[in-house]
Amino acid sequence: MSVIKSVVRGVGSYLPERVLTNSELARSVDTSDEWIVQRTGIRERHIAATGELTSDLARHAATRALADAGLVAGDIDLIILATSTPDQTFPATAATVQAQLGITQGAAFDLQAVCSGFVFALATADAHLRTGSFKRALVIGAETFSRILDWEDRGTCVLFGDGAGAVVLEACDSAEVGERGILTTHLRSDGRHRSKLFVDGGPSSTQTVGHLRMEGREVFKHAVGMITDVIEDAFAATGASADTIDWFVPHQANRRIIDASAQKLGIAPSKVVTTVDLHGNTSAASIPLALDTAHKDGRIKSGDLVLLEAMGGGFTWGSALIRW
Ligand code: ACO
Repeated sequence: MSVIKSVVRGVGSYLPERVLTNSELARSVDTSDEWIVQRTGIRERHIAATGELTSDLARHAATRALADAGLVAGDIDLIILATSTPDQTFPATAATVQAQLGITQGAAFDLQAVCSGFVFALATADAHLRTGSFKRALVIGAETFSRILDWEDRGTCVLFGDGAGAVVLEACDSAEVGERGILTTHLRSDGRHRSKLFVDGGPSSTQTVGHLRMEGREVFKHAVGMITDVIEDAFAATGASADTIDWFVPHQANRRIIDASAQKLGIAPSKVVTTVDLHGNTSAASIPLALDTAHKDGRIKSGDLVLLEAMGGGFTWGSALIRW
């Protein structure tokens, strides 16, 4: 019996031009390249130019994903944009991107699950495509975290960067695409942890945008366990394993979290896609940025089994397994 599956047709990404190195940061806060590299693996990050908005980053990434898919904007009838740094409180940044791309059909909305946003958006798009409500979706992760950082807090400002990534998903008949497509997704949240990683502003509470605040050690303590739990759920649902996956594309928060998660799951280091050294933590954008990197350099190929995971503020966490 044939079923509808969501297949990745294309991927694209965009990074702002300006690169901010650790050494440059060490001139404004009490830190060092050595400390940042040793604790996080981050060497540099990109920072959006004045006036360059989350929607601009998202539009560039989306345009590149469409080109990679061999499609045009008019082929898209669903846009889900994961971000915690929208252009405005409302309308959704997805609606701005929709208008800028000239799309007038279907639906466009934002999704907010912080660093897990892309996995949550992918799962949401997959569910909509499989019901037959929409035919082709742009799933975008786009962030300008530089705008919500306290640049005097060395515990957080060294960790994050700006960027965007996007994939095009298409609803396809399994009889035509065989094994390809999103195989399983697993989403989790536990709001009891919300004060461990949050922004201290918002329209309803302070009427300000606010700054990111984090208990770094607490986040670290929970991250590896939560990540490995949802990956084990993905393995149990599909029969896949650390040995049968081709690529592990984790949220790029911190090299130590990535390495510890891969090690706990028995995933070979050669299968791990890492971009945190050059991008920092770009929150919802980090996974599609890493996917695009590994697709463009020839690592991820059609037919490969690709495992995604993310964990972030809320806490939220999730996994997805894709036959590329
Ligand atoms: N440069 C130099 N020293 C620093 C810096 C810095 N940038 N930041 C903190 N320190 C100091 C602290 O002040 C502290 O000094 P003290 O001992 O004199 O008090 C010392 O370094 C150790 O601080 P810790 O916070 O305990 O350092 P830790 O080893 O835990 O590393 C870090 C901090 C990198 C934030 C780590 O906790 C971490 O990676 N946590 C995970 C957080 C994360 O990745 N968040 C991303 C968002 S969530 C997500 O995406 C999953």
